[in-house]
Amino acid sequence: MNILLTGGAGYIGSHTCVALAHAGYTPVILDNFSNSHPGVLERLHRIIGKPVACEEGDVLDTKLVEAVMRKHQIAGVVHFAGDKAVGESVAKPLKYFRNNIGGAMSLVEAMQATGCHTLVFSSSATVYGDPASVPIREDFPRGHTNPYGHTKLVIEDMLTAIAAAEPAWRVAILRYFNPVGAHESGLIGEDPSGVPNNLMPFVSQVALGKRAHLQVFGDDYPTPDGTGVRDYIHVIDLAEGHVAALKALMETGKSLAVNLGTGRGHSVLELVRAFEAASGRPVPYQIAPRRAGDVAQCYADPALAQSLLGWRASRTLEQMCADSWRWQSGNPDGYR
Ligand code: WQD
Repeated sequence: MNILLTGGAGYIGSHTCVALAHAGYTPVILDNFSNSHPGVLERLHRIIGKPVACEEGDVLDTKLVEAVMRKHQIAGVVHFAGDKAVGESVAKPLKYFRNNIGGAMSLVEAMQATGCHTLVFSSSATVYGDPASVPIREDFPRGHTNPYGHTKLVIEDMLTAIAAAEPAWRVAILRYFNPVGAHESGLIGEDPSGVPNNLMPFVSQVALGKRAHLQVFGDDYPTPDGTGVRDYIHVIDLAEGHVAALKALMETGKSLAVNLGTGRGHSVLELVRAFEAASGRPVPYQIAPRRAGDVAQCYADPALAQSLLGWRASRTLEQMCADSWRWQSGNPDGYR
């Protein structure tokens, strides 16, 4: 069964490609390489043992998406393509509304035109805004604290409305918490361009000696050690969650929205210590002011995903750090 992965050359997409292939599906990538690198394709070939079909293009090009779907006889779609930098979305909201919401609309129109109604959507815990409490359940109020999160919220609502209007549609909305880590081979991993926004890639680059020190954004939060607490989930666990969601859609025909997290929170300093242990390298840091838009704590209640998908994250923070380090130390310049 051929599955289209829009943005499939990216960090989450490439790992989901591996998980789908291991589960017996045939992944097909559509990517414009605006935030990914063609070098990942050769790595995927080495991991999977056969080449992965890849079409270069933009999900906004509806006719192109339609043609790709017909050419590869696509039975289902996992939609990753979109922009995802919170800070950039504040500075360039139109880019995010156009690319993320416009891209999702274009994809749905192409799917309708080809009679494909099975869609897994890459959403984010950011749709919960600043949660009133933790752990976060799917019935918590949704909100947005930045244009990026707003686009995810709008797309969720659009897909939910389409599924309600047309019973043929079956949509899985997956709300990621904090994806980190890399495939155990060290051949694929997170490859941010420029200065990493996220904690794990920045810590990895400090351990490598590429950056002098980490800035810890605030140590005065109401958390055990004062630093921010997040639900870090291994990217392979996350990828396997996508496979489980696709299977559930195809077996039940019922749409769903679930958190993909571990249910455990770890602080910034806990992650730093775990990374130092995993890499054997020091990660010097300095305490800096809080980062605008950050919340104190954000971690999932993973019970619904377990009951609907029969899926639960299993990999530890130590494994996340060890796998991140193997990727970073083996690929100091990513795929370049
Ligand atoms: C984690 C913790 C920071 C960097 C974001 C998006 C979310 C999703 C994942 C797309 C926080 C602290 C970080 C640094 C630090 N992205 N930190 N120094 O902000 O939880 O989530 O990425 O889907 O939508 O909002 O992740 O990794 O940026 O931060 O102290 O240099 O690390 O304050 O407590 P975040 P993050």
